[in-house]
Amino acid sequence: MPNDPGFLPRAGAARSTLRPDIAAAALKGLTSQPKTLPPSLFYDELGCHLFYEITKLPEYYLTRTETALMERIGAELLPPGMTHATLVEFGGSEETKARYLLDLPGRFDRYISVDVAETALTEMRKRLAQSHEWLEVVPVVANFMHPLRLPPIDGPRLGFFPGSTIGNLEPSAAAAFLASARQALEPSPWFLLGADLRKSPDILIPAYDDAAGVTAAFNRNLLVRLNREAAADFDVSAFRHRAVWNDGESRIEMHLESLRPQVVHLPGATIRFAAGETIHTENSYKHTPEALVSVAQSAGWRLHRRWTDDQGLFGVFLFGP
Ligand code: TRP
Repeated sequence: MPNDPGFLPRAGAARSTLRPDIAAAALKGLTSQPKTLPPSLFYDELGCHLFYEITKLPEYYLTRTETALMERIGAELLPPGMTHATLVEFGGSEETKARYLLDLPGRFDRYISVDVAETALTEMRKRLAQSHEWLEVVPVVANFMHPLRLPPIDGPRLGFFPGSTIGNLEPSAAAAFLASARQALEPSPWFLLGADLRKSPDILIPAYDDAAGVTAAFNRNLLVRLNREAAADFDVSAFRHRAVWNDGESRIEMHLESLRPQVVHLPGATIRFAAGETIHTENSYKHTPEALVSVAQSAGWRLHRRWTDDQGLFGVFLFGP
């Protein structure tokens, strides 16, 4: 076998989980300078579970603030007069927040959810079949950042992008996504966006570096996944999680820091790390409400209404045609 670096698993179990697409994506990031990994790799089965645990952490105020806001606002969240509509969630492998909308009587007949996490989507569909048997649930397994191909939709539709996932996109990618979502939702597009807001790093850092180490486990699970699905040989314990506030860029950066000089192998590649060198795994931009609205406007959206919690931690924005 040409190029066999000698550390590939022998025949058998591990081989069946190898994903050449993931190996290729990882290799591209790890051979870049500075090193990166694509954040869509976070959400394997364990990653989805760990992220769900993050949303319940005392330090991670985002989810509980957003859900409290949605619960408080209720039907006012919706475009005026919208009934028998389709809710289209982007990055929604888990329907907790969508339920605040799907539960509003007479408002939604159909729920389309676009996410990379196939198993999580299947579970979601089963749960909704139990609790919302009248609802047509259409899971779409896709990265919502790639050109969107939605199934045909009759009637009114509302895009839904909660959880501050918008902050995980570079501002230019956020604008491009908002424009492509707008196109996918034509005619008469509406969009409900939930986004964390710029604030003191004293609040932000613990939200991304919790005392119990769940966020650290979530970040390091990327390496566990690459060992399993890309035949890498990371010593996971030789990397630590770091959350860094970058004030100029107004973002939290997630990194995995190499604790010592080391060499990691992937099929066909040898990756060298200096002590203290990091893999930059994710950004979470914290925009002001004004900056968010202006990004959406550049994508053709008009602000219809916006809300924040009493402390101004989190914002919910309704954009219309
Ligand atoms: N959308 C979430 C956020 O930016 C995702 C997230 C939370 C995350 N904690 C994380 C991503 C830690 C990577 C690492 O808040």
